[in-house]
Amino acid sequence: MAFSLSTAQSSALGDAALKRSNWSGLIEAYRPYLPVTQSTPVVTLLEGNTPLIPVPRIAEIIGKGVRVLVKYDGLNPTGSFKDRGMTMAISKAKEAGAKAVICASTGNTSAAAAAYARRGGMNAFVLIPDGYVALGKLAQALLYGAKVITIKGNFDVCLEIVQEMAANYPVTLVNSVNPYRLEGQKTAAFELVDNLGDAPDWLCIPVGNAGNISAYWMGFCQYHQQGKCARLPRMMGFQAEGASPLITGKIVTHPETVATAIRIGNPASWEKAIAVQQASQGQFNSVTDSEILDAYRLLASEEGIFCEPASAASVAGLLKVKDQVPAGATVVCVLTGNGLKDPDTAIKHSTSQYYQGIEANTTAVAEVMGLNN
Ligand code: F0G
Repeated sequence: MAFSLSTAQSSALGDAALKRSNWSGLIEAYRPYLPVTQSTPVVTLLEGNTPLIPVPRIAEIIGKGVRVLVKYDGLNPTGSFKDRGMTMAISKAKEAGAKAVICASTGNTSAAAAAYARRGGMNAFVLIPDGYVALGKLAQALLYGAKVITIKGNFDVCLEIVQEMAANYPVTLVNSVNPYRLEGQKTAAFELVDNLGDAPDWLCIPVGNAGNISAYWMGFCQYHQQGKCARLPRMMGFQAEGASPLITGKIVTHPETVATAIRIGNPASWEKAIAVQQASQGQFNSVTDSEILDAYRLLASEEGIFCEPASAASVAGLLKVKDQVPAGATVVCVLTGNGLKDPDTAIKHSTSQYYQGIEANTTAVAEVMGLNN
């Protein structure tokens, strides 16, 4: 069959393709909203502009004509939303003449810090909890050329150490206590409004150190002030049950969860996050590891979307409080990281049929396929 398009069709396609190919990173896209000047050296890997994907099977579970979409930030250059904050933090560090940066991390921040620091010609030192960082994230930090230091202690301990190091040595701290990080991360809220034409009714988001929820709210409020959106979302934050200080109101000294990215007991942006919850009439809730893993498998096997366990906490949370979702609402769940970051968890918790070591002939293969009757 001949392949032909009308002039209007081909020019619309051309526009869409051009928009994607002309994307020059989130600092250029949202420059008027960011604390940069013409003399800021922009260190970018063309992060941002990530897809907002409808998830109809999950919407069906909720019913009531609710529309559910996921913001798939796992498609950023290093595979997580951290790239949004890191392009800003590293550009500003370079502008200030820094030679080295340091961060504590459950994995994703370290991968992003390493990539952007090296891209900007700086050294990166990353402190991570020994034995609790997903394989892909560790591989990234090492290959990007960071100095990786594993600590006999959890993320909260690592964060205390790097704050002290940055106060006493010539290294710039690039954890989300660095305000430029949240400035970059708020652009995800801008993209949501630019895509949807308004803010969603609900934003469901995993919460660890609580920087991202604070950044999203900042973005929605700025766009609202500029008249870019008519409403503000309810911010629904979800923590893993074994690491849920925002729900219990108490520091968790020994946080534990399969979602190692959010294995945090004393979030740095604790107060900010509480203020966001109050201002947005939102809620914090916890989800168990088994609810997280159910949502993780559901996203992959029913929607074709592979995110990391911490990211699935947003969908697990939405399903947990689904009775509260207003009929006809638009809900966005933030998927913060790519599933490829953590292959061990995927393989360990897959419930798919997996036949190993089968004889190399069609009879044996047909048999495991159930075709031999
Ligand atoms: N999802 C993923 C995949 C994360 O890596 C993190 C945080 C969060 C959610 C929570 O975001 O901390 O802003 O509330 N990861 C940090 C890190 C702590 O070191 O990579 P938050």
